[in-house]
Amino acid sequence: MIVSILGGTGEQGPGMALRWARAGIEVIIGSRQQTRAEAIAAELNQELGQPRLKGMANPEAAAAAEVVALTVPFSAHRSTLESVREQLQGKVLIDVCVPLDPENPRKMLMPPAGSATEEAQELLGDGVKVVAAFQNVSAHELRALEHGIDCDVLVCGNDRAARQTVMDLVEQMGLHPVDAGLAFNARVIESLTALLIGLNIRHKVQGSGVRITGLPA
Ligand SMILES: NC(=O)c1ccc[n+]([C@@H]2O[C@H](COP(=O)([O-])OP(=O)(O)OC[C@H]3O[C@@H](n4cnc5c(N)ncnc54)[C@H](OP(=O)(O)O)[C@@H]3O)[C@@H](O)[C@H]2O)c1
Repeated sequence: MIVSILGGTGEQGPGMALRWARAGIEVIIGSRQQTRAEAIAAELNQELGQPRLKGMANPEAAAAAEVVALTVPFSAHRSTLESVREQLQGKVLIDVCVPLDPENPRKMLMPPAGSATEEAQELLGDGVKVVAAFQNVSAHELRALEHGIDCDVLVCGNDRAARQTVMDLVEQMGLHPVDAGLAFNARVIESLTALLIGLNIRHKVQGSGVRITGLPA
């Protein structure tokens, strides 16, 4: 399995990359600049102690992987997806992006499609299976490799097999996935992120998260 993370040079991407690489998955860091992707991949390989990560420009990273994650600010969501639309055909896209209000990240500013996930599915067409995941997991927690993360990862999208692929990847990271059903549920899942950011501020923590109870083990 090869997984690419477009915009993997920022806050959220490296923790995901390191946790997958540690599980033996080949990970490609994507960036608008190939040299930046290579530099971050080299830093992460150093931290991991093994050369499991590569860096590429976003279109090459998207072309090289079977599963592609997107971790760019929502302001770059549409333009980044348009730039890799062809390379993503036939693949699973994990959309991690959250349409936060740039004026106030404790509020949402949803796109007309309803959520980032639904916007991605609309933009990419039926040839790409879009799955939402990791919106409610903080970069701070992901990056702290020495400990587990006390939260669930809500996974939604319209294709059941693609959801299962992503849930398997969540488990390989050492996290607990919850099948959250169809893509329209991303409206709720993405919105929880704004709530969690507010809770982090209110309670002076860096990684509040979500745990669903009452489901079968
Ligand atoms: N940070 C968190 O704790 C967290 C948690 C859950 C979800 N999320 C969501 O995950 C996404 C990424 O968050 P982040 O904190 O990792 O963001 P970030 O650090 O601000 O940006 C990630 C990467 O996106 C690329 N990028 C920035 N502006 C761009 C533009 N105009 N066009 C194309 N690429 C651009 C940059 O990569 P290059 O310059 O290398 O191209 C940057 O390193 C966001 O949508 C966020 O809401 C974040």
